[in-house]
Amino acid sequence: MTSFVCASCGYNASSWYGRCPECHSWDSFKKFAEEKKRSIEPAKIVAFTDISRASKQRLSTGIFEVDRVLGGGVVSGEVILLAGEPGIGKSTLLLAACQNLSCLYIAGEESATQVKERAQRIKATSKRLYISENTQIDAIIQAIMKTTHKFDLVVIDSIQTVRSSNLSNPSGSISQVKEVADKLIDYAKKNDIAMILVGHVTKEGDVAGPRTLEHLVDCVLYFEGETSSEYRILRAKKNRFGTTGEVGVFQMTGAGLKEVNSATAFIDDISVSPGKVIVGIVEGQRSLFYEIQSLVNASFLPVPRRVVAGLDYNRVQLILAVIRKNLRISLEKHDVYCSVAGGLTVKSPVADLGIAASIISSFKNRALPPKSVFVGEVGLLGEIRKSNYDSKLIAEAKRHGFKSIFTNKETPKISSLNSFFT
Ligand code: TYD
Ligand code: MG
Repeated sequence: MTSFVCASCGYNASSWYGRCPECHSWDSFKKFAEEKKRSIEPAKIVAFTDISRASKQRLSTGIFEVDRVLGGGVVSGEVILLAGEPGIGKSTLLLAACQNLSCLYIAGEESATQVKERAQRIKATSKRLYISENTQIDAIIQAIMKTTHKFDLVVIDSIQTVRSSNLSNPSGSISQVKEVADKLIDYAKKNDIAMILVGHVTKEGDVAGPRTLEHLVDCVLYFEGETSSEYRILRAKKNRFGTTGEVGVFQMTGAGLKEVNSATAFIDDISVSPGKVIVGIVEGQRSLFYEIQSLVNASFLPVPRRVVAGLDYNRVQLILAVIRKNLRISLEKHDVYCSVAGGLTVKSPVADLGIAASIISSFKNRALPPKSVFVGEVGLLGEIRKSNYDSKLIAEAKRHGFKSIFTNKETPKISSLNSFFT
């Protein structure tokens, strides 16, 4: 039977359309004849006990923070998607992370000379690094197959610039990104070469293709932060070869990215101000302290604004509901803005108590005591839950000179926050 397929989004239809009903692209329908039935080999079935566990080789990138997030290094045959906003530092990070390995770098966004200049600036001039500006997928795969070098890692910077000549769509379109990624993943698995695919995401969360790859790759890393701030966090959203809890922290300097070990790196200054609160959370093996900022203002809108950045929107709504019920502070005539300083993200519920304290502090226009840290999850009944990491966070906070640490012991209920403002 003949069917028609949209070359842009893959929409399937039994008749031809001038404009795709799904993605609205014009003249994208192509005739697609189903393959004639061939004799099919039955699938091979193996007893579970007969499978030998050939452990895959892990290769260190030489950057501790990257290895930590990956679960100890890159695994041969692993395909990693590195997503982040343009200009956040993905290329800089990868250039530094391939120094320890025999690597082929596909520079689709910059010329080889530009990459070389940057490499010299950040002192990443490995002799085992090879580069190509070619962005035709078949040409890239042919080059890897024919070369005498045995590459440990292939970096594709970025997946949106590589294209397949099988499709007429422009590079970066969903069908191109999928086709190119399919070919790369297939090659990586069959030949045991690790690959890192760079994908740009926009602020609105539209990953222009790469998000559609998340389920195909073994590991999805997000590089986040704000270009105006110097700190960056590398997080694993998915990891078939390790945990997703670990984070890598970096500082963008004039000479590339520097690894950051300090738990308090994200706290610029310890001055107090209404709406400003320090929270402590544990991510993977490390404790980290973040600054939460809230701004509560009388609203002139019929439906007041709730603007949340870097925190879970529904979590903030829940905290507002708990504050209303237990502290009798009604914010329905107030706009509430709530964010994490530095463009970072805090998803742990252990930050709840700090978020609540920050909102109330801004509402009352009273600062919280200096050198204080908040640790605790807020329950629906207004109780503050103990976290498994309380003792670890308390010890770490003391080590960094914090004087008052508020956990469920000092503030067993959300209403205990009242005592700060009386
Ligand atoms: P880049 O790695 O090109 O970002 P991406 O690949 O995610 O688009 O980094 C771009 C920014 O990083 C650029 O605006 C300048 C800054 N930068 C530094 O501050 N110091 C450095 O040593 C380098 C190489 C870049
Ligand atoms: Mg780049």
